[in-house]
Amino acid sequence: MRIAVVGSGYVGLVAGACFADMGHDVVVVDNDQNKLAALKNGQVPIHENFLPELLSRHRGQRLQFSDDLQGAVRQSAAIFVAVGTPPTESGEADLSYVESVARELSGAVDGYKVVVEKSTVPVYTSEWVRKIILRNGTDPEKFDVASNPEFLREGSAVTDFLFPDRIVIGCDSHRAAEVLREIYLPLTSGQYYERVDAIPQPDRASIPAPIIVTSTKSAELIKHASNAFLAMKISFINAVASVCESVGADVSQVAHGIGTDSRIGPRFLSPGIGYGGSCFPKDVMAFRIVARECGYEFRLLDEIMHINEDQRQRFLRKVRNALWTLRGKRLAVLGLAFKGGTDDIRESPALLIVQALLQEGSKITAYDPAAMERVRETLGSSITYANSAYEAAHGADALLLLTEWEEFANLDLKRLRQELKYAIVIDGRNLYDPEVMSAHGITYYSVGRPACLPDGVPAAALKNGKKA
Ligand code: UGA
Repeated sequence: MRIAVVGSGYVGLVAGACFADMGHDVVVVDNDQNKLAALKNGQVPIHENFLPELLSRHRGQRLQFSDDLQGAVRQSAAIFVAVGTPPTESGEADLSYVESVARELSGAVDGYKVVVEKSTVPVYTSEWVRKIILRNGTDPEKFDVASNPEFLREGSAVTDFLFPDRIVIGCDSHRAAEVLREIYLPLTSGQYYERVDAIPQPDRASIPAPIIVTSTKSAELIKHASNAFLAMKISFINAVASVCESVGADVSQVAHGIGTDSRIGPRFLSPGIGYGGSCFPKDVMAFRIVARECGYEFRLLDEIMHINEDQRQRFLRKVRNALWTLRGKRLAVLGLAFKGGTDDIRESPALLIVQALLQEGSKITAYDPAAMERVRETLGSSITYANSAYEAAHGADALLLLTEWEEFANLDLKRLRQELKYAIVIDGRNLYDPEVMSAHGITYYSVGRPACLPDGVPAAALKNGKKA
């Protein structure tokens, strides 16, 4: 199949590379000349597992990069629109890029094409895209608009694409559904997984990939509802963690206890400093606005956002409780990206916490395995950048764990303790067992679990600094 992917951002690039790996001829279109030149030169603009392999495997062969949208449309059976839909000031999705692509591609629809929404867009967008294409003089028989939402997590986007839990295709015409079914056939037939050069299968893969065909509006809603539901799971467990802190219970035990109910499931029940990234914050807000515009006040979504913000404030209170005043304190921060495995700092709760600590007069030395360069562009010299976790910890009054990078969960605790001025760790991601920390002489605060002092005494059991 010949496919055009419009937008070489996160979703477009991963989709383009994966479609090529599935055997299709793909042209990825972008109007950013610098980006195109970098991609043609073999640079990989984002930190993503397996993406460098796929790009070098297919670049210049089954995967082309171009700024010619109309040319790409003419040669393709399906056009995936993967341009940005950033939030406006009021929180709605800005659909102007989607609209301009729809307008521009109209002039090139010279045979039957399926225009596929790949970006996260509100319900009714497909109707608007259709109207815009018709308004620009395209024959209604020559195209359909479909929705094919992505469920890619940063860091594992390539495996999420090639080993999806499900592929959702939203179409209102049989013909469009057939084109999309054919595109995904290598995954739905299982043929891709038999190849020796297939990307390695992750745990829990559903093979062959299941496909769900819905109406276009349902598919649009599936995307927003999925992200809102996942954000709800996170806020729910964060709220439960707060109750645990009040009563001295352990949220990891509670999460295990509820997550083993197959109706609830164990995933996305890790408490922390709140969700971030370019998707959940934006999508929960956009879904809230879409629902209101459609006549439903989805107040549950307000609470999800409220708990999420509160979770950061609770963490900051924890830091103050552990250190008393923050002015002039030297804090080591491990993790700046919005989650582990990525260099993305958009809406990163870690970064928001660092900014709040700076405002309170703390001095920060930070380390992140991938996001340092991006943070430097944002925070400049307001923080110090370390080359390793231990360098960040050297001489610090306390260590803050803010991103769940695997390497942060495997630190040499003896060495860490030696580096720190005071052996205090405040863990926003519950990476360690409190007992192990106290056995290493570290005063340890985490989320939804009793704080532990070096002799293993939970802080809650102390009154006025003495055992109750
Ligand atoms: C999310 C969804 O998981 C994808 O399915 C979706 O396609 C994507 O948004 C999107 O709409 O494009 P992503 O933003 O990459 O993917 O990151 P997640 O792994 O979902 O994590 C989001 C945030 O939640 C991170 O800040 C993470 O640290 C936090 N989180 C996640 C928790 O605090 N607890 C958890 O149990 C899980």
